[in-house]
This record gives sequence, structure tokens and C-alpha cells, in this order.
Amino acid sequence: MHYFQFKGKELFAEDIPVKKLAKEFGTPLYIYSQKTIERHVDAYREAFKGTRHILCYAVKANSNLSILRLIGKMGAGADVISGGELFRALKAGIRPERIVYAGIGKTETEIRYALKAGILMFNVESSEELKEINRIAGMMKKKAPVALRVNPDIDAKTHPYISTGLKKHKFGIPMEEALENYLLARELKNIEIKGIHKHIGSQITEVRPFQDALKSLLLLVDELSLHGIRIKYIDMGGGLGIPYKDEEPPHPSELAREVKKLLKGRNLTLIIEPGRSIIGNAGILVTKVLYHKRTKEKNFIIVDAGMNDLIRPTLYGAYHEIVPVERHERSKIIADIVGPICESGDFFAKDREIEEPEQGDLLAIMSAGAYGFSMSSNYNSRPRAAEVMVKGNRAILVRKRETYKDLIRGEI
Ligand code: LLP
Repeated sequence: MHYFQFKGKELFAEDIPVKKLAKEFGTPLYIYSQKTIERHVDAYREAFKGTRHILCYAVKANSNLSILRLIGKMGAGADVISGGELFRALKAGIRPERIVYAGIGKTETEIRYALKAGILMFNVESSEELKEINRIAGMMKKKAPVALRVNPDIDAKTHPYISTGLKKHKFGIPMEEALENYLLARELKNIEIKGIHKHIGSQITEVRPFQDALKSLLLLVDELSLHGIRIKYIDMGGGLGIPYKDEEPPHPSELAREVKKLLKGRNLTLIIEPGRSIIGNAGILVTKVLYHKRTKEKNFIIVDAGMNDLIRPTLYGAYHEIVPVERHERSKIIADIVGPICESGDFFAKDREIEEPEQGDLLAIMSAGAYGFSMSSNYNSRPRAAEVMVKGNRAILVRKRETYKDLIRGEI
């Protein structure tokens, strides 16, 4: 559920007409709904009530400082994947003891930064990384808190590019090598074993893969305890899907019900790392129709947003609903909705049925809050879009539109 709804013929962001926001801030424009974000965080909070847990929001989904600050204020921590994301999380006031750090390619500079900041734990993805963290922590006279990210070889049944939990993927330590790596970690003087981590993929629409993966992690926890290794944190990653079209992903409470059953009677603190299910449906991308180009073959609706603003349709073949910001009850056409970039892959929808738009009309690309702005780029030297947060009848610019000057900042 989100708060981008039609009131009569007009699309609203909470209590403000989207048209008004587009006029004030220009297009392409990302609009977020604070009430929707709060609702999603609350849904997780409510779902996992009674289980000791930390919600570590996956910063990669949307790393805008205002969004991080809002989520942090609600008590959440952060899951980061780079020094840059750690920097953002700290800047937004998220406490380091609520930050976990995953990723297969952490550099020395990044490891030092995280050790200095005092994060909750590194989610370590190889024995090589484990040894490197041990070496760096030794130099800094610190003990590095770690969890090992294991790869449970479970099919998340999602798009191959966003599936991460199979043996063939580059992520995590293979299950059969987990024990030897924990034994290694125990021997390393500057390492403190804190937990265990997995993340099997994204946009998962069933509870089953989560259950299966968690079960296999718990078997490992038991095996480790036989070797005298005590695990305190069990981090089940993120990955819960959202409805883009007709998917019916489980509600956090359905996920929590099964997770709670599995964790019952165990002295473990659960970590969850949702990204998309917090911010995905809490954001839209508003774009203006520039031209309706008609060829013998096709209708092209050319808009002022491009794949540099939202790359998901072309990168994953992802479906995003596209609606007119004002309904006119004109006749429907079948069209490709495309951007101005010099790539045939620059599209938001192909052969989509849509009420025939006119030049200057606004379209809203729905469910664009996650992996939208955060994956945007300056390709074709296009300044990145502005971002606005709406709360009730107030709108706040949370990121200025980039200027041409911004494009060349840092160039010599
Ligand atoms: N934790 C880890 C270690 C992750 O790698 C990810 C996402 C998450 C948590 C959050 O997953 P979520 O709850 O958002 O599904 N760009 C792709 C998604 C890539 C996801 C990468 N990892 C997309 O646009 O669909």
C-alpha cells in the first residue's frame, strides 16, 4: 500500500497534486511519500515484535540522506556495501553499532574506515577477506567484529541478475566451506566472531526460500556450537519483493511468522536487511511527454526521463506501471514509452497500452523508489533528477536537480 492515489482525475502524492510538484520542481522528478516509508518500517517493526531484532535498511535501494535520516530516526540501522554508503549512513545519524557491512570487494581504506567508525559487524565473503580484515585490525590494534556470509545454495526464484544465493554466484562462502572458515576466524587474533549472514536475492515473492535458507543457517549455528563457537547475530539479509504488476509477495508479517517459529527458543538476535520493500512503492518518477512520434510500425511516446534516471526496465526487463498524472479519458493506444538517450535500450515500457498522451502531459512511473535514483547516472551528460519528499501537504526538496556545472565538477 502506498500514498500515491488518484483523487478524481488527478494523481496525488499524499495530499499534494503531483502536477503541482512537477510545476514547482521540474521534471524528471523523483517524489517520495514519507507516510508510505513510515508505514513500511512500521510493518516490519510490528511483524517482528517480540523477537530481538535490528532492522538494517539496505542503503543501496535508495541512499538519499533524508530518507536515511527518516528511517534511522525510526530506530533502524543500515546495511552498507561500500565506504560511501557507510559515510552516508553515519552522516544521516545512524548509529555505527547498528550498521552491518557486506560486499565481496572491501578495500583496505574501507575496512579501516569501518573499523574506526565502530560498526556492528563486517559480513565477510571469503577467507581472503577474513585474513585481510584481521591484518588491518591488527595494525589498528582493534578487534574486528565479523559475521561470515554463507551461500546456502538456494534458488530465490527471481531474476538471474538479482539472485545471489546459488553456488554459481560470486557471493558468500560456500556452505561446505563455512565451518573451516569459522575455525580459521577463531584462530585469527584480531577477529571476533559475532554472527552469520546470508542474502539469497531480491524481489522474492514467496516465504519458502527464506525459510529454507534460514533453516540451513541454523544447522550451521548448531554445528558451530558443537565446536564451541557461539553465534550472537543471525542476519537473514533482505529480498522481500513488492507488487510491481500482479505479484503477490508475502507481507512482512507472513515472513516474520515463519522466521519466529524457526528462531523460537534460540538466544539469537535477528538482523533483517530490507531495501526494496521499504522504499520501492514509496517513490515515483514523474516525467513529461516531449513528443508523440508515429512511425508505420509503432507509436513512440518520448519523455524527458531516460534510462540514466531509471535503468530497471532495460537492465532487468522490469515492469513499472506508468500512469497519466491527469486522466483525460482519451482513447487508448499501444506505444513504446522511451527516453531521449541514444540507445535502443532506453525505454520504460514496450507495447504498453496507455491513454494517448499529448505533448506536455505528465506521466508517473510507479514503484520507482528502490534502485531508481540510486542507480542513476549522468550518461549522455544528463544532469541527475531532483528528489522531493512529501509529507501530508508539505513538500521538501531533498536533492537539488543537478546543473551543467555539476556535470564537470572535479574534471581538469
Ligand atoms: N542485503 C544485501 C546483502 C543485498 O545485497 C541486498 C540487495 C539487500 C540486502 C536488499 O535487498 P532488497 O530487500 O532490496 O531486495 N538493482 C536490483 C536489486 C539489486 C539488489 C542487490 N542487493 C533491482 O533494481 O531490482
